[in-house]
Amino acid sequence: MTILAIETSCDETSAAVVRDGRILSSIVSSQVKLHAEYGGVVPELAAREHLKNLLPVARTALREAGVQPGQLDAVAATQGPGLPTALLVGFKAAQAVAFSLRKPFVGIHHHEAHLYSPWITATVSPLTRPPATLSPPGGERGGVRGDETAKQYAADFSAFQPNVSLIVSGGHTLLVLVESELNHRVLGSTVDDAAGECFDKTGKLMGLSYPAGPEIDRLAEQGNPRAFDFPRPLLNDASDDFSFSGLKTSVRYFLRDNPKLLDDAQCVRDLCASIQAAIVEVLVVKTVRAAKRNRGRCVTASGGVTCNRALRRDLETACKREGFTLRLAEKELCTDNAAMIGILAERKLLHKVPATELDSEIRPGWVLA
Ligand code: KG4
Ligand code: ZN
Repeated sequence: MTILAIETSCDETSAAVVRDGRILSSIVSSQVKLHAEYGGVVPELAAREHLKNLLPVARTALREAGVQPGQLDAVAATQGPGLPTALLVGFKAAQAVAFSLRKPFVGIHHHEAHLYSPWITATVSPLTRPPATLSPPGGERGGVRGDETAKQYAADFSAFQPNVSLIVSGGHTLLVLVESELNHRVLGSTVDDAAGECFDKTGKLMGLSYPAGPEIDRLAEQGNPRAFDFPRPLLNDASDDFSFSGLKTSVRYFLRDNPKLLDDAQCVRDLCASIQAAIVEVLVVKTVRAAKRNRGRCVTASGGVTCNRALRRDLETACKREGFTLRLAEKELCTDNAAMIGILAERKLLHKVPATELDSEIRPGWVLA
């Protein structure tokens, strides 16, 4: 089965072609530099950028996959949640393509696509045709070509195991129990800010540019995570919910009372390491606790913050200690991309989930059940 997938829920315009679980092409045009000027995503600008970039990105995805529109068996797009004006661009365009090709259309829940992305793995194999080009996380705006490595990405659902999954990014922080493929239940989510938002907002307080998560990750590598003691909200709470706005506020007051710290480069590195340690500890402890309570043997993690090296390391250590299998989404697939949308759409069609109506609407506030 060959599927064209489109993702425009936030600030990445992405198109991918997947076939029988393999990612034939995955193009991501990131708007990150455009929005950096404003310190966050500006919805109206995001929508205009999607309008400008979608067709070139989709054309490139088809060309790199060596697929003609007539060879497509289905078209998929993110239906929600996300910024309404941004979602509309990709969703309506994908419906129009499906309509003109008379092929099934699949509207995908963005978080559900993240949820199954850890089952997509990279393998290095000899090139027989141009590689699937996955742009690096936070890639250049308009940078529709990724590296020229021989990495190939394919979903391996034969290895699927029930799992407890952490989905952690700029707009969402969720713990989900996945009992079988396409059968999952949300255990908890953030009651205020998402973890990525906490990285971005505390980074902004330190004068780092948007999105600050990758920069905090980089600076924290040379910082002392025990230099400053920031709160770990809801760490010992019995629920699987998260809260990060209190941590952000505590950093705000701490910097207000100690503004000189920001003049010292090592202090900034220590601040980054200490903030990161607080966020990562909450994420790791709560994920492992949820897995133990649900007698899970497997933990998975996905979403932009899963690029974070401390989170990857600490999840690995904790899962090893508990004897859990850990599957982390490939870094290239942690941030928003259409490949995960296409892979999930294919699984749904294979599992006989009915196609989405061609006159269905976007669902900006769609909550994962
Ligand atoms: O999944 P994503 O691309 O978009 C959303 O759906 O939100 O995630 C973007 C988020 C941003 O908040 C960004 O700061 C964060 O992921 N992020 C990181 C890292 N790379 C991206 N946070 C911490 N460490 C990183 N290395
Ligand atoms: Zn996302």
